[in-house]
Amino acid sequence: MSNKIIELKNVNKIYKTKAEEIHILKNINLSFSKGNFVSIQGKSGSGKTTLLNILGLLDVPTNGDMFIDEKKINYKNEKIKNRIRNEKIGFVFQFHYLLNEFTALENVMMPALINKNFDKKEVKERALELLDLVGLSERVKHKPLELSGGEKQRVAIARSMINNPEIILADEPTGNLDTETSLVINNLFKKINEEKKQSIIIVTHSLELANLAEYKYKIEKGEFNKVL
Ligand SMILES: Nc1ncnc2c1ncn2[C@@H]1O[C@H](COP(=O)(O)OP(=O)(O)O)[C@@H](O)[C@H]1O
Ligand SMILES: [Mg+2]
Repeated sequence: MSNKIIELKNVNKIYKTKAEEIHILKNINLSFSKGNFVSIQGKSGSGKTTLLNILGLLDVPTNGDMFIDEKKINYKNEKIKNRIRNEKIGFVFQFHYLLNEFTALENVMMPALINKNFDKKEVKERALELLDLVGLSERVKHKPLELSGGEKQRVAIARSMINNPEIILADEPTGNLDTETSLVINNLFKKINEEKKQSIIIVTHSLELANLAEYKYKIEKGEFNKVL
């Protein structure tokens, strides 16, 4: 029995600008299983965000195929694509993108309320559990401006989990945090992976964060390879 959660086959991404064509991802093949904790390293401009956006169905490859739960993504069907993204994928970005006028609790609940599949009371209970998991039970009524950088990122991590995604994608989640706070976030990802068995794919240029992962990869000159 196979338990592949996400797979790319011969994926290329070429950006065409007026002046030139940039071949940013070259024939990428990858396959991750359920519960894998994966890190992807690479210099600035190497294509990390591009790859993560493709994995998260926020961007489309120039050519090649992608599979989630062994089903091929049909990029022409926006509706199904959006449903898969909402149901199966959680995002943590470098900038937290929390809504300043809402509390931590409301921010965490938001993606589930948009989803409409869930009962509001249940969503609230789960949001409180997630805020507890990330160590913020004392901050649920705080608004983003009343939280520290690390706390905001922890709210964003709780938010990424509200729809109970099978995959969490994190794009340089500690890029704007000091070393000490980064460590707290790193340990949190590890804990989530161990306790919740969700697949986590983290793009980072922090060696410390990359080394926490059981599967380490890098992008260099458009090529995707295992770090030995
Ligand atoms: N929409 C776009 N059009 C043209 N070039 C782009 C576009 N998005 C990103 N790029 C270029 O592709 C390269 C990779 O970008 P990105 O994936 O954001 O890298 P990273 O996240 O590793 O820093 C960069 O050189 C960037 O300028
Ligand atoms: Mg990036």
